[in-house]
Amino acid sequence: MSEQAMPTTSREWHLVARPEGWPKPSDFALVEAEIRQPGPGQILVRNAYLSVDPYMRGRMNDSQSYVPPFQLDRPMTGGAVGYVVASQAEGFEPGDAVLHDLGWREYATLDAKYAIKVDPELAPLSYYLGVLGMPGLTAYAGLLEVASFKPGDTVFVSGAAGAVGSLVGQIARLKGAARVIGSAGSAEKVAKLVDEYGFDAAFNYKEGPVREQLAKAAPEGIDVYFDNVGGDHLEAAIYSLKVHGRATLCGAISQYNATGLPEGPRNLVLAIGKRLRLQGMIVSDHAALQPQFVAEVAGWLKNGNGLRYDETVVDGVENTAEAFLGLLRGDNTGKMVVRLGA
Ligand SMILES: NC(=O)c1ccc[n+]([C@@H]2O[C@H](COP(=O)([O-])OP(=O)(O)OC[C@H]3O[C@@H](n4cnc5c(N)ncnc54)[C@H](OP(=O)(O)O)[C@@H]3O)[C@@H](O)[C@H]2O)c1
Repeated sequence: MSEQAMPTTSREWHLVARPEGWPKPSDFALVEAEIRQPGPGQILVRNAYLSVDPYMRGRMNDSQSYVPPFQLDRPMTGGAVGYVVASQAEGFEPGDAVLHDLGWREYATLDAKYAIKVDPELAPLSYYLGVLGMPGLTAYAGLLEVASFKPGDTVFVSGAAGAVGSLVGQIARLKGAARVIGSAGSAEKVAKLVDEYGFDAAFNYKEGPVREQLAKAAPEGIDVYFDNVGGDHLEAAIYSLKVHGRATLCGAISQYNATGLPEGPRNLVLAIGKRLRLQGMIVSDHAALQPQFVAEVAGWLKNGNGLRYDETVVDGVENTAEAFLGLLRGDNTGKMVVRLGA
């Protein structure tokens, strides 16, 4: 982009009210702000894709967690990929594609040390927010490292048509699982799991008790449960896990908008007799796996030997809050991303 074409203002999203239960559009505001030119060591990036992710819901509450809460009336942050348009940092040139954490806005000025150069020739830029980015590493590390997956395991994953879940199931299959089972929230998603992602069985958790549907899909039990949902899904998995079964507690999206205390699992006592291992995870603890993860997943994508990756693309920065609400409702199949300037 030439100097003349550079706009002087950028639109950015602010959280203006902390949601009670389900967030509402009025909790967010799109604000016009001056674009700050980069100082020494900084770059100015035109964002091309923004990520909306479930963990952002937790950041909307005023409570300390592994990531700090969003501040009211300040620009929100989150994963983004884009192109450098001005640079005062060594090693960064206009035109370079970068991944960084100043999403929820059109233009971002940041210290170059917080940007990671990515290769748009290796994969479409948006893939660095999904299959080759944070959700991909979550699936890879959560299955292989946290759940200690082994070939021959029977694996159940919830949220199976989403960004993380769709990769968990497929990686399990590519790594030699005996049987892969998934749950998702619509008939279309369930059909996709079996027909396109190669799951052995799948069910719609809205159509009946998870415990019964899982027991039917895995009559011999499961060795590994990858939990994206919590609540009734985790309770059902505890019933189905075999002795020495392992569960990765990755997310509990069924509880993110809850206003009261969650229901379950009520059967945790079974973990004793079955010697279960239920282990929480945070993806950033697994950064050391990044090179191995990128090499292996990029290989599966390139060779076309069975790793399918879907995105749900929402256009326009003005639709970012709506895309986030849609993610919580389950509007997405695969990774939900917002495309800017298409
Ligand atoms: N621990 C970590 O480091 C880490 C990192 C990344 C992600 N996560 C967690 O992993 C999970 C998946 O994240 P993602 O980025 O891949 O999101 P995603 O699965 O692409 O999108 C969220 C999905 O959750 C499902 N959902 C919403 N409400 C639900 C409910 N009440 N019960 C069951 N499913 C529900 C929806 O699909 P349906 O149509 O199927 O309902 C929706 O599409 C989330 O819990 C997230 O917080 C954790």
